Amino acid sequence: MELPFAESYKIKMVEPIHRSTREQREQWIKEAHYNLFNLKSSQVFIDLLTDSGTGAMSDKQWSEMMIGDESYAGASSYFKMKGAIKKILGFEYFLPTHQGRAAENVLFSVLVKEGDIVPGNSHFDTTKGHIEYRKAKAVDCTIDEAFDTTLLHPFKGNLDLNKLEKVLSSNPTDKIPFIIITVTCNSSGGQPVSLENMKEVRKLADKYNKMVVIDAARFAENAYFIKKREKACENMSIKQIVLEMFATADATTMSSKKDAIVNMGGFIGMRDEDLFRKASVFNIMFEGFITYGGMSGRDMNALAQGLDEGTEFDFLETRVEQVAYLGKRLRDFGIPIQEPAGGHAIFVDAKRFLPNLPKEEFIAQTLGVELYIEAGVRGVEIGTLLADRDPNTRLNRYPELEFLRLAIPRRVYTNNHMEYVAIALGNVFERRNEIKKGFKILYEAPIMRHFTVELEKL
Ligand code: F0G
Repeated sequence: MELPFAESYKIKMVEPIHRSTREQREQWIKEAHYNLFNLKSSQVFIDLLTDSGTGAMSDKQWSEMMIGDESYAGASSYFKMKGAIKKILGFEYFLPTHQGRAAENVLFSVLVKEGDIVPGNSHFDTTKGHIEYRKAKAVDCTIDEAFDTTLLHPFKGNLDLNKLEKVLSSNPTDKIPFIIITVTCNSSGGQPVSLENMKEVRKLADKYNKMVVIDAARFAENAYFIKKREKACENMSIKQIVLEMFATADATTMSSKKDAIVNMGGFIGMRDEDLFRKASVFNIMFEGFITYGGMSGRDMNALAQGLDEGTEFDFLETRVEQVAYLGKRLRDFGIPIQEPAGGHAIFVDAKRFLPNLPKEEFIAQTLGVELYIEAGVRGVEIGTLLADRDPNTRLNRYPELEFLRLAIPRRVYTNNHMEYVAIALGNVFERRNEIKKGFKILYEAPIMRHFTVELEKL
């Protein structure tokens, strides 16, 4: 018999989690104004809110924590992180930041000005936020296939080269500071970008003399998909693929809370010394001195180790195949998801799940609340609440897709937990026709409202 698939690690430390009753959950979510971010973690049984900063560090990462160098300037931990970034991503220059959005804030302070246009593949919300906050515009050039959740396409994160060239050729050249490639593309469902597509984007960037920036949060999962799905790369190691991916870029912003498997941290990688010098000024202002930038020495050590572990095939296989397993179990129940399964999460297609709910009533949020009440499982809305209002008209922006994202933390839950989640959502699916009402907004912030929004049941 062929040996079954099994996790590439064993568990050395555990944290108890607790179940609750439906009555308790109904009360708690009401008190939380139907915003899943407002729940206490103790009120959640299985937490799939995010895979960001929620992973389990390895024994080697924890031992690195013990030998961190907490010197303000020139710490050995800084050099360890610098070495790992050079070796694994290939960037000569780097600045540590406390997380990914901080890296965006620092880099965009140098590069983005009012009136600019930044084309890319479904920019993540903080990325778009940092662009729009500077009165610039993010233009989505993701391939159309990404918006049909039923379609099986190996690289739904790809940029549409025609859309991209149209943006590049029809705007004044000084208005486009760079092209951004997000790997994997979180907003389209944790979908990968092919190496071929990245190389084509580089060619276009060269033709129009533009910089390419990679939003690298889940670069290693992206490399895993490239190895599995791109014929030309099947015999390359993950680390070789990673180097080739980053060779297409001039700079990168990284949320290390994902594929570097740390609880906090980020960085900017750069090739150009002049850009590094300019960004250093903002880093010192917003984050900290250039050799720690918002991170402790111990965290820089764990990050360096995490970059190495996070780019090992065995780890990635365990990780991505667990996500695929949840996808398969949901599919068994007939639950509509973004196909194929993503790298870090399953994106449930809420519009197809609850076809009778009007978009004005926040479909994916309604589904998220129902899943929480059903079983204490917390996902997150990737839909109208997250899309924010149009900065000019202030009208709701209704995205083409309404998702409930079930993001799986790295090395944290077992496949039994995945089974529990699948059955919970299966139960909601069975009673989907009884879900007839959604929510209306009581309070919302002017930007990034989904974090703090307060809702009322209709
Ligand atoms: N880019 C991408 C693609 C992301 O997914 C995130 C964060 C960021 C940038 C910002 O990084 O959180 O370290 O400041 N995504 C988290 C999520 C929050 O749940 O998907 P950060």
